Amino acid sequence: MSITGPLDTVFLDTVAIRADFPILSRRVRNDKALVYLDSGATSQKPVQVLNAEREFYERHNGAAHRGAHLLSEEGTEIYEGARAKVAAFIGAAPGEVVFTKSATEAVNLVSYSLAPSIRPGDEILITEIEHHANLVPWQQLAQRAGATLKWFKALPDGRLDVDPSLITGRTKLVALTGQSNVTGVITPLAEVARLAHEAGALVLADGAQLVPHHPVDVKALDVDFLVFSGHKMLGPLGLGVLYGKRDRLEALPPFLAGGDMIEVVRMEGSTFQPPPARFEPGVPPAPQAAGLAAAVDYLTALGMDNVAAHEESLTAHALDALREIGGVRIIGPDTTKDRGGAVAFEVDGVHPHDVGQVLDELGVAVRTGHHCAWPLHRALGVQSSARATFYVYNTHDEVDALADAIRYAQRFFGQR
Ligand SMILES: Cc1ncc(COP(=O)(O)O)c(C=O)c1O
Repeated sequence: MSITGPLDTVFLDTVAIRADFPILSRRVRNDKALVYLDSGATSQKPVQVLNAEREFYERHNGAAHRGAHLLSEEGTEIYEGARAKVAAFIGAAPGEVVFTKSATEAVNLVSYSLAPSIRPGDEILITEIEHHANLVPWQQLAQRAGATLKWFKALPDGRLDVDPSLITGRTKLVALTGQSNVTGVITPLAEVARLAHEAGALVLADGAQLVPHHPVDVKALDVDFLVFSGHKMLGPLGLGVLYGKRDRLEALPPFLAGGDMIEVVRMEGSTFQPPPARFEPGVPPAPQAAGLAAAVDYLTALGMDNVAAHEESLTAHALDALREIGGVRIIGPDTTKDRGGAVAFEVDGVHPHDVGQVLDELGVAVRTGHHCAWPLHRALGVQSSARATFYVYNTHDEVDALADAIRYAQRFFGQR
């Protein structure tokens, strides 16, 4: 099987891109070409990112924001340079970007830090299409604070039923995803932010599946908080991002406490730094930040409009190809309108885990299960699903390989 085709060079030069990702030339499962369709879980990393991390350790490894020596100084410059780069990537100021461990930790940071301002009877509005990372922390906050949890429901095609009557004078926060990790549905973030702000509520957007794949400008969206993960956008694992409007971050007390987030420490108590330092205790993950900065450079050089267009063309191809296979049901919208590159599906008579296993034998890596979005699966009437997700290095030939592998799985299980 060749892994590139003419369509792949329309928006992105996938031949050149794939050459930057060493793992993509790996052979798997009895010498099969690796067809990696699980970037929604974690993306692969180009040499530019691997080199940036490696160079940090080889040349600049000192604790950033600690000590007076040259290595610490360089570590600080690299760490703060990465913050400025990530901020520019989403249209924010550097002081509005907090580095966390993950998108999950970023949601927890906001949910814990907001807790003192949530009273019994207040309402927190989420959605039925959330990843558990943007769902369970709000359930926990509502339980701790005696607040009421409400949610926008999923429509039968997985889109969001934005019912404005759910936003009331008691709503303190609306937390919603920008793009579903299951159906690829893109939500009307700016519209929800407008409605929420009219009611005096804050808005947190989960950008874990949005920021890696589309141009994002936090000022245009006008959300108060945006979370995302570096590892889903070509960057290293272990680094997430919390964007917060300056005044919103300033109003929040610390989440995790420890070294370097303090102003003055006495035995009786401590005062805290302004954001972002207030939320970054401990020795900063500067090598990971260096890697993420390289990832941002990589994506910026490709152009986020091109990234989005490339993924849209792969998604359109996948929707067409899967629609043609009898006994396969696409879970989610079956057009690319307001939809990103996640395609979840069911195969009649074959459990998604079995589909995943047979595909894996052919070298095709997809995710199976409920994808940390159990309520969404329940709402759509499915136990679990298989899911293919696309990124900058995926090709149209790989979409065909997915369709061929699904047909093979059907034959293997005697369904065709
Ligand atoms: C939509 C969405 N939100 C949040 C997360 C959590 O990201 P992380 O596991 O990197 O914290 C994920 C990860 O799959 C996701 O897809």
